[in-house]
Amino acid sequence: MSIEKKKVRMNKQRRATTKAVRIDPNIVLTVQNLTKTYTVGNSTITALNKVNLTIRKGEFIAIVGPSGSGKTTLINCLGALDFPDSGKIIYNVDGKGMGLDLAVMTNKQKKKIRLRKIGLIFQFYNLFPILTAYENVELPMIIDKKSPKDREEKVKFLLKRIGLGERMHHLPSQLSGGEQQRVTISRALVNDPLIILADEPTGELDTETTTNIIKIFLDLKNAGESILMVTHNKRIAKTADRVITLTDGVFTHEIKGGKPIEDIYKH
Ligand SMILES: Nc1ncnc2c1ncn2[C@@H]1O[C@H](COP(=O)(O)OP(=O)(O)OP(=O)(O)O)[C@@H](O)[C@H]1O
Ligand SMILES: [Mg+2]
Repeated sequence: MSIEKKKVRMNKQRRATTKAVRIDPNIVLTVQNLTKTYTVGNSTITALNKVNLTIRKGEFIAIVGPSGSGKTTLINCLGALDFPDSGKIIYNVDGKGMGLDLAVMTNKQKKKIRLRKIGLIFQFYNLFPILTAYENVELPMIIDKKSPKDREEKVKFLLKRIGLGERMHHLPSQLSGGEQQRVTISRALVNDPLIILADEPTGELDTETTTNIIKIFLDLKNAGESILMVTHNKRIAKTADRVITLTDGVFTHEIKGGKPIEDIYKH
């Protein structure tokens, strides 16, 4: 890279860091007036309309709402996979209260945030079919240039913790849906993220497997992880600390959750 290019890049990075704001160290992420529209042909759809949200360390939040209400759009914007039109998404980047808005970050900083601070989990697992469970979980650590020793320790620890110690060398096609989702949870945790963003993580699973996945989320929450989960399942949503309803891109309702997992299928 030429010296000129290097200088431009360094300045960009410095500019972004000088835009840091102090936030409460116990806040993982704060969203202010987030708006996202999509234009298709002549029509414009407002997928998110001035959404505000604050997620604290160790909080488990469920987002519910009808199809098309903007849930995936919210996850994609928070996960730096999509760009909002306006508003702020401020991450506590150092975990100590240095807040940085995704909008002012350089592409390199965004990549780092995606790799190290955000654990993404999707409905359809998104595992590489030619890699084993172990290799799928290891991949983000390879990209993050972690040493082989650290990788082996961490990957084995996470897969054992999640009950897949005996199946770590299986391919995704040799695992059940619930097992594949457990692999993606391990993968989401591998770089010790600030937050887990899960979009319909139990959408494809039966009741028993769903309960097991939620138990894992509750264990993670109790260990101090922060989780934002989108779900259609209103019963399991109630196990989260807060249940927020999204309607036509607007947060319309919030209730307290915290219902024990054992009670969710009781009437
Ligand atoms: N890439 C896109 N281009 C155009 N419109 C889009 C795009 N992505 C989403 N939308 C529209 O934005 C709105 C919100 O979509 P989103 O996928 O966020 O909904 P959702 O709440 O996740 O729905 P579901 O429960 O069905 O997954 C919808 O009206 C959708 O059609
Ligand atoms: Mg969706």
